[in-house]
Amino acid sequence: MQEGCGKVILLGEHGVVYGRPALAASIGSGATAEASAFGSNCLEVEPWGVRLELPPPLSSVPHSLERAFEAVLNTYAERPRVRVQARVSLPAGAGLGCSAALGVAVIRAIDAHVGVTRSPAEVAEASLVWERVFHGNPSGVDSWMAAGAGLALYRKQRPLEAVKAERPLPLVIANSNEPSSTATMVDGVANRREDDEVGVEALFDDIAELVLKGRTAVEAGDLPLLGSLFDDNAALLCALGLETQKLESLCTAARSAGALGAKLTGAGGGGCMIALVADSAAGEAVMAALRECGVEPFYTEAS
Ligand code: MEV
Repeated sequence: MQEGCGKVILLGEHGVVYGRPALAASIGSGATAEASAFGSNCLEVEPWGVRLELPPPLSSVPHSLERAFEAVLNTYAERPRVRVQARVSLPAGAGLGCSAALGVAVIRAIDAHVGVTRSPAEVAEASLVWERVFHGNPSGVDSWMAAGAGLALYRKQRPLEAVKAERPLPLVIANSNEPSSTATMVDGVANRREDDEVGVEALFDDIAELVLKGRTAVEAGDLPLLGSLFDDNAALLCALGLETQKLESLCTAARSAGALGAKLTGAGGGGCMIALVADSAAGEAVMAALRECGVEPFYTEAS
């Protein structure tokens, strides 16, 4: 079984689309896949109950998954005839890199079947054709994290910089359950930038500055500083119009329950929030407060 990881952006979403750095981490397994010989091409995704065969019927408008699968198959010198059976374990449209995890798992499954060997960097690069179908103009950070980059500073077209955490980062993550489309949110920021390029670029510069401070805080194990950077980043994302009332209220509840900082993660406009906590005991208190808000949080550590 081949794997793609989920991801969490600690600091720097959206700025990263415009060449600024982002601090991100791979989190657990986001998707698995296995490929076997088949007469044509078939992709099955559970637990979504999706089963698609290529080519799609002439009369139908191809689904994004069909286009993404087609794009991946076309990257092989000889188009493989495979049935790929995949399983995702992340919510889609929630900011945890579900589509990138699935794309990476699918590519690794086909690679394993046809005998192609690639480095994680090459897998990330190859999976961009998949990711572009869903996200138009992705920075690539999700693909790198899905390929298992760990905790790292990512900047477009620059070598990935691994970040060594002095201590694991205790995080509480909660899905607002407001569905969000990364493509729509990225387009919304692009429109804002078109209306006010100087203002939005200044916000990206501010985000970049706190990403670099965040890396130093992670390397020093300074969780209170990192937490305050989460809050600063939250304010900048709010200025970009990416916050929702629900996300804001979840972040407020987390801070009131003792989180060191909280922010949305991913594209915003819904999806998940993350809170940095001092340790797992502090995480319990924050999770209890979030449950009171009607969401189902989970605890993880990024390292
Ligand atoms: C999405 O996980 C992160 C964004 O910065 C988009 C991207 O980097 O492609 C919003």
